[in-house]
Amino acid sequence: MAGVELRAYTDDDAAATLGVFQRAIRETASRDYTPEQIAVWAPEEVDTDRWAVRRAGAGTVVAVVDGAVAGFTDLGEDGYIDMMFVDPAYARRGIATTLLEHVVSAAVGRGLTQLTVHASLTAKPFFARHGFVVEAQRFPVRGGVRLTNFDMRRVLEPDPMAERP
Ligand SMILES: CC(C)(COP(=O)(O)OP(=O)(O)OC[C@H]1O[C@@H](n2cnc3c(N)ncnc32)[C@H](O)[C@@H]1OP(=O)(O)O)[C@@H](O)C(=O)NCCC(=O)NCCS
Repeated sequence: MAGVELRAYTDDDAAATLGVFQRAIRETASRDYTPEQIAVWAPEEVDTDRWAVRRAGAGTVVAVVDGAVAGFTDLGEDGYIDMMFVDPAYARRGIATTLLEHVVSAAVGRGLTQLTVHASLTAKPFFARHGFVVEAQRFPVRGGVRLTNFDMRRVLEPDPMAERP
């Protein structure tokens, strides 16, 4: 997407990424989940230090538009994407697509053969559009409330330019 810059997460991004996470859930995902589900997924009380440590350790990448953090994602060593969130103010402008393209190329560069995600009801069409297929429906329980999401997987094509052993 034109005008979006990707860069590695820094400690200064903690508050902005947490804000994107909360708005994306409370506004965008609230179409698909009940207020009770939204309240346990994006609680009012968040330990920001714990959030910052987790983001820094997850290989988080942020998308910046006009100097503001508009979205973020990550990539685990095993190809698991823990988070993919875009601020509702920047929805449907291709920001998540740009983040995912980065993740795909990083994963292929590391020799990973697949990406996996626990996709929300809201994110399922996005991941499906990008080649992920549903393997199973999940019903995680948080704070005593049952949520719904989907195990989705995308098989990666190896990089043809990579050196073969
Ligand atoms: C899912 C999410 C990250 C998508 O971010 P985005 O930047 O708006 O996505 P993009 O603009 O890159 O979308 C690309 C394509 O995905 C599909 N898509 C994205 N959101 C969609 C939706 N709500 N419904 C149907 N298709 C959707 C469309 O095909 C879209 O292309 P189009 O806009 O040309 O039709 C964002 O909606 C979000 O943060 N949702 C709430 C939080 C959440 O559930 N995160 C995922 C946790 S696993």
